[in-house]
Amino acid sequence: MVRGEEHAAQLLLVEREEVDDEEELFEAIDKLISQGINAGDVKKLQDAGIYTCNGLMMHTKKSLTGIKGLSEAKVDKICEAAEKLVNYGYMTGSDALLKRKAVVRITTGSQALDELLGGGIETGAITEAFGEFRSGKTQLAHTLCVSTQLPTSMHGGNGKVAYIDTEGTFRPDRIIPIAERFGMDPGAVLDNIIYARAYTYEHQYTLLLGLAAKMSEEPFRLLIVDSVIALFRVDFTGRGELAERQQKLAQMLSRLTKIAEEFNVAVYMTNQVIADPGGGMFISDPKKPAGGHVLAHAATIRLMFRKGKGEQRVCKVFDAPNLPEAEAIFQITPGGVADAKD
Ligand SMILES: Nc1ncnc2c1ncn2[C@@H]1O[C@H](COP(=O)(O)OP(=O)(O)O)[C@@H](O)[C@H]1O
Ligand SMILES: [Mg+2]
Repeated sequence: MVRGEEHAAQLLLVEREEVDDEEELFEAIDKLISQGINAGDVKKLQDAGIYTCNGLMMHTKKSLTGIKGLSEAKVDKICEAAEKLVNYGYMTGSDALLKRKAVVRITTGSQALDELLGGGIETGAITEAFGEFRSGKTQLAHTLCVSTQLPTSMHGGNGKVAYIDTEGTFRPDRIIPIAERFGMDPGAVLDNIIYARAYTYEHQYTLLLGLAAKMSEEPFRLLIVDSVIALFRVDFTGRGELAERQQKLAQMLSRLTKIAEEFNVAVYMTNQVIADPGGGMFISDPKKPAGGHVLAHAATIRLMFRKGKGEQRVCKVFDAPNLPEAEAIFQITPGGVADAKD
């Protein structure tokens, strides 16, 4: 049975669960005020995109003194104050296990695909999908926009979605039938998605910086970047600019990792494939993911998508720390990603 189908009949309005028993994920940056940091300096941190003490510790002192108005002495004081609020050091294995329990797995809409992924797309991690044109990467993004908003009892994330679109392929009208299939109110689902179209890699980065403010205020569970690489391939051309491109790409990916961990958000990013002449004459379709080693190291889970027969698509685990290399077949339907009917 297609996931969500059993609920579609009565078109119930899924209310967001009240999350009150959930432990605070992060300490807001304005708690520094209680530690003797003045409000003006806290505001400077916020203006630089730092909204939590947990986010603060992901910055080097060098980058913090780069913020206008923050001297080295001030930065030292701020870091000392933050260390009193969040754990900067070691924790026990048991505590690490407890932290892992905060991880939510969000359904893809296909049970076969969920099983391949160990339950769905994981929060606190980056999932990369690469594959040829029309292999279903963007359709999965649309499906996740909806399934993330389902309650956790229905394999959702009970949270909001941020969507950064670099290729101009987001279609809000696609969200409507997908929401209906999951028994959700399409209007409410659309209201819980924040969307931005990026036109340059710099714009893409600025949009990421702006997310910290939103994510510290409301419960987001998914960030989509479709695709992560397209603008870099346009804005940097030729061999001569490759080193700079990879450096800027690494910066962007590091930002994504931090967002995933700071706010326990699932990051779903798509990637393009490029011809791989080095693939050898025995490989019928030599293609490899773009972005080189920089991208390969950033993703926690790498998935390779390809077309199957008709509307069927095949997803292969390309690289993951705790999943076997295996494949799943799914299908693209008007209601989004679903199990393949054979
Ligand atoms: N409303 C729909 N119903 C069924 N299939 C659809 C629908 N919209 C798009 N698709 C399928 O999705 C494919 C496009 O997939 P997409 O996710 O955009 O590919 P990618 O992002 O990998 O390039 C189309 O070729 C079509 O087969
Ligand atoms: Mg696409």
